[in-house]
Amino acid sequence: MNSVMITGDSRLSVEGFVDIHVHILPGLDDGAKTEGDAIAMATVATKRGTSKIVATPHVDPLLLPPGATQVETIKRAVNSLQESITSCGISIQVMPGMEIAMTPDLVGYLTRGEVMPVSDRGKYVLVELPFQTIPSYAEEEVFNMAASGYIPIIAHPERNASVIRNPNVLIPFLKAGALAHVNAGSLMGREGHRPQETAEILLRHGLAHIIASDGHSATSRQPGLDRAFEIASRLLGEDEALKTVRDIPLAIVHGEDAHVNEPEVYKARRKWWRFPRREGS
Ligand SMILES: [Fe+2]
Repeated sequence: MNSVMITGDSRLSVEGFVDIHVHILPGLDDGAKTEGDAIAMATVATKRGTSKIVATPHVDPLLLPPGATQVETIKRAVNSLQESITSCGISIQVMPGMEIAMTPDLVGYLTRGEVMPVSDRGKYVLVELPFQTIPSYAEEEVFNMAASGYIPIIAHPERNASVIRNPNVLIPFLKAGALAHVNAGSLMGREGHRPQETAEILLRHGLAHIIASDGHSATSRQPGLDRAFEIASRLLGEDEALKTVRDIPLAIVHGEDAHVNEPEVYKARRKWWRFPRREGS
């Protein structure tokens, strides 16, 4: 990966990209189907400069039977995959996690151990909003999580229709204590123009702080951050871009404090249309 070093912290200088959102565990969701798929994804991620990934199967607490949890299943799957990856000579660390559907009382699910934070360590919790709307209870939920010491990370808000219409709807969530990550694929235009433009706006205005791959396979939705890092470097400069793919996600997987920029209000530029002149006018 990129050779920029951050002086004063030898740990950061030797790390590659850290990807906090990858559907790599076989057979648990719409990501890798087999262990072979998962190993292929790990191979791609390594070749593209990633040194740590968080395995984040979709979990909707409302779909679990009362008291049930997938925490132990996910941890066992991570341990098994890590053994296979290591025995294949692939140098990447896989950590447990979840992409949790935004649900009332997430604090209760976390406290009871029915869902787990990123890397099963510390305070960061990867949360997914619906694609079309932002639920009316979501802001209060973020506030409650922050009050209980958790930091929700809103997954790919640039794909949410309300955020696309008005990126500033994220500001109350961020002020309440949330972080946000955009998808590498959105920045690369894989989701279309509007999510791409929104992802750029969010990064430029401190409305998102991290880039993750949301990788689902070794082919169509790859777990790679290198191309998005290049795009972010053009948008933000290389030092700020490195924070989004390495420094902030590294702090997150270690459960340490992450220092992020204050959000700025996005002011849409007025668009001018040129109407064709009528004959004779
Ligand atoms: Fe995802």
